[in-house]
Amino acid sequence: MLPDAARSLLCPVCRNTLALHAGGSRLACPDGHSFDAARQGYFNFLVGKGTVFEADTSAMVAARSDFLSGGHYQGLADALAELAAPALKGPQPAVLDAGTGTGHYLKTLLTVAPALAIGLDISKFALRRAARMNPDAATIVSDVWQPLPVADAAVDVVTVVFAPRNAPEFARVLRPGGRLIIVTPRPGHLAEVAGQTGMLGIEPAKEERLAASLQDHFEPLSAQELDLELSLPAADVGNLALMGPAGHHLDPSALGAITAGLPPLTKVTARFRISVFEPRDQPSR
Ligand SMILES: C[S@@+](CC[C@H](N)C(=O)[O-])C[C@H]1O[C@@H](n2cnc3c(N)ncnc32)[C@H](O)[C@@H]1O
Ligand SMILES: [Zn+2]
Repeated sequence: MLPDAARSLLCPVCRNTLALHAGGSRLACPDGHSFDAARQGYFNFLVGKGTVFEADTSAMVAARSDFLSGGHYQGLADALAELAAPALKGPQPAVLDAGTGTGHYLKTLLTVAPALAIGLDISKFALRRAARMNPDAATIVSDVWQPLPVADAAVDVVTVVFAPRNAPEFARVLRPGGRLIIVTPRPGHLAEVAGQTGMLGIEPAKEERLAASLQDHFEPLSAQELDLELSLPAADVGNLALMGPAGHHLDPSALGAITAGLPPLTKVTARFRISVFEPRDQPSR
C-alpha cells in the first residue's frame, strides 16, 4: 500500500487517522490500535463485534477469479473505468471500490485513471487476490454495512460492482462533486444458462428501485446499459454459477455433471446497467 492511501483510512476502533509503519506492514493510530498486514498484503479491520454476513468462500472466489481472468467481462471493466476517469483528474485523485472482490475492476480502473485506491470487502479469500492484483491500493477486510474506515470527503469516486450499497456512508466519504458508480445486472442477465445450472440469486435491480434506495443521499446523473454477447467454454459456465450468490448452495459435483453435458461453447448474454450518481448537498456537511 502507498503511504498516501493510508492517510485516508480511519482506525476501526477509535476512528482516529491511521499511518503506515514497519515498511508498510503495519497500520497504527495515535491511540495505539495497530493492524498487521496479512502475508498477501491486505489488512483485517473486522474487530470485536464480528459479522453475521456469509462471506464468499474460497471456492466462490476461485471461480470468480478464473472467470474474470478469461476476459469475458473486460468490456464492463473498460466501460466502468471510462465513466470514472473524468472524476479522477484532480491533484490527488482517490477511489474507493466497495465490495472489491478479487480487485479485477479496480485494476482496470487504475490502469486507465491512476489514483489512490481503497478496496473493501468482507471476504479475506477475495482480498488475498485483490491485494496482489492492486499492490499500491489499501486493501481492507471490512463490512460495508458498518461505518466505513475511510475519512470524510476522502475520495472522488466510489465504485460498487454487484456488491452491497451503504448510501449514507458512501455520501460521507465522497468529496463534493464526487461520483458513485454502481453496476447492477438487468433483467435477462445470463438468462440462457441461469435455469440450467441453478444460478439462483442473481436478482435484477430495477433502475427506479436502485435510485429510490439511494435518494436521501444521491441524485441520479446517468445510466448506461451494456450488453456483452459471450461465447463461454463449459468450465466458465460452471464458474459463472459458482461465483454468484448461488455458489453458497450449489453442489459442485452436480454442477460438474451439468457442465459436462454442455457444448464446447455456450452463447450467453450478460446484461448490465452502469448508473452514475452524485451526492446531494448534505445539511450536516
Ligand atoms: C458478487 S461479488 C462482486 C465482487 C467484485 N465487485 C466483482 O464484481 O468481481 C460481491 C462481493 O461483495 C462482497 N460483500 C458482500 N457483502 C459485503 C459486506 N457486507 N461488506 C463488504 N463486502 C461485502 C463479497 O464478499 C463479494 O466479494
Ligand atoms: Zn484507534
